[in-house]
Amino acid sequence: MIRDINVDVAQATAKRVTGAGGIALAVEFDLADARSVRALFDTTVDQLGGVDGLYNVAADASANVLRRRKGRPRTATRTLSSASTDPTQKEGIEMNVRVENRFDGKVAMVTGGVSGIGAAITERLLVEGAVVVAVDIDTDAVASFTKQHDSTRLQPRVLDVSDADATRTVIEEVVTEHGRLDLVVPNAGIAAPGNAADVTLDGWKAVLDVDLNGVFHTIRYALPHLAATHGSVVSTASISGLGGDYNLAAYNAAKGAVINLTRSVAVDFGKQGVRVNAIAPGPVLTPGLRQWLDARTDVRDLYEDHIPLGRTAEPSEIASVVAFLASNDASYITGVTLAVDGGLTAWTGQPHVMG
Ligand SMILES: NC(=O)c1ccc[n+]([C@@H]2O[C@H](COP(=O)([O-])OP(=O)(O)OC[C@H]3O[C@@H](n4cnc5c(N)ncnc54)[C@H](O)[C@@H]3O)[C@@H](O)[C@H]2O)c1
Repeated sequence: MIRDINVDVAQATAKRVTGAGGIALAVEFDLADARSVRALFDTTVDQLGGVDGLYNVAADASANVLRRRKGRPRTATRTLSSASTDPTQKEGIEMNVRVENRFDGKVAMVTGGVSGIGAAITERLLVEGAVVVAVDIDTDAVASFTKQHDSTRLQPRVLDVSDADATRTVIEEVVTEHGRLDLVVPNAGIAAPGNAADVTLDGWKAVLDVDLNGVFHTIRYALPHLAATHGSVVSTASISGLGGDYNLAAYNAAKGAVINLTRSVAVDFGKQGVRVNAIAPGPVLTPGLRQWLDARTDVRDLYEDHIPLGRTAEPSEIASVVAFLASNDASYITGVTLAVDGGLTAWTGQPHVMG
């Protein structure tokens, strides 16, 4: 029985890989036999020139799907505006962005949606066909983002998400205007420096008001509408919600709370067909961070040293994960917080002292 299920999963995976322009190799062998596993890899690399991915679906006799690129990777069906200027491509790291039309006819709201990570999320959802209500407290940033993006599907608005009534009003107006709401991305966030003893009370309250209460308001007032469309929530938490940082007590508290709020809402609203997830980015090269790292190359070196993938993320790499979690590709995922951190939280933090 288990074997049958695994074969089904292998076949579905192979179909997906070939559909995306790759070559899928479905094989069955004894995984415990290291020699035959090695021989299989060697033969595959000899015959096809490489192996780009491995999907292992069984614990005993197993079907493994190996994928290799055939010539150049298939190009995106649409191009992301930021992809061509992505510095990671210049460094030879292949992004292989494949953009689909997963949000045609859908209405999304992104908070903090006109700068940094939020702007990348707004752009990704627009490229994939959504109507995007990008809200932000910064009037000038809203105006300049609107000027840069010539799309009738972009609906920018000024909103302070820490204001519960204002957030409810905007959500109600969006539903009145567009007839539906399929996705909210509570992403607006701020930080204040300080540990628990010296963070200012104003700083503490401001961070909790935006990073936690703002997320709560957005989710709370969107929920009835998301239940009507079987929609979803993808909140921007942070790796700072998964562990503690030096001198970021308020931010750590707020982001940790967002991660557990995600679980709580997922549990309460799963039966109504609403999926609720979050992402936990590591350091992302938003214009603010890029400026800081340009001035502090010592800090840039530290990041590159500590992050297993050896670099900070591009905003587009965060946006693509939000789009995945919001899409039907993630139709059986709810209540999770997905780290998008280049492996940073996979590391215990112990110094590299073993040999
Ligand atoms: N940049 C990173 O390295 C990083 C890492 C992990 C998590 N995050 C999180 O990602 C999210 C986006 O951060 P970013 O780096 O793009 O920052 P950013 O400052 O570029 O963007 C945040 C946006 O939120 C808006 N905003 C602030 N307060 C608001 C309010 N009360 N109502 C509505 N909008 C408000 C700001 O005007 C700004 O446009 C935040 O939640 C942040 O905590 C960022």
